[in-house]
Amino acid sequence: MNTHLHITAWALAIILLLVVIVLQKTGKAKGAKITHMILRLDYLLILYSGGSLLTNYLNGGGPMMTEAIIKSVAGLWVIVAMEMIAVRTGKRKATKGAWIQLIIALIITIALGFGRLEGGLLP
Ligand code: HEM
Repeated sequence: MNTHLHITAWALAIILLLVVIVLQKTGKAKGAKITHMILRLDYLLILYSGGSLLTNYLNGGGPMMTEAIIKSVAGLWVIVAMEMIAVRTGKRKATKGAWIQLIIALIITIALGFGRLEGGLLP
């Protein structure tokens, strides 16, 4: 249940971030602002679902615990990079560094999330 919430929440975040950027680039400042607020609410869903998945690992204390912690830190980094991109695009500042961070952080999170950690989609 939390896994599905988690995946839905971060997939939605990627979509919302793209919508925010398109709205900002096409000068629709108000729409961008509203969408950005929704994106920020969605961060809470990511944090809640990810935090609850992490709790399972912390309580279980199994061999994957360290990886789950690293995965979670990388997940936080994804959120930070997304927020940097959204804010900096709105201010017409350079976003290349933030995009590079987002891509690196996303690769780490998705590789550890889908590739290594077991608690996920499989029944
Ligand atoms: C936008 C950022 C994030 C992305 C893209 C992401 C991605 C993923 C993916 C792909 C999985 C695997 C799901 C599965 O196995 O079915 C996962 C699971 C997980 N995530 Fe995240 N995540 C993000 C944020 C977070 C945050 C902020 C935390 C911690 C506070 C977190 C903690 C976890 C934990 C503990 C798991 C469980 C791994 C498992 O049992 O498979 N994630 N995440």
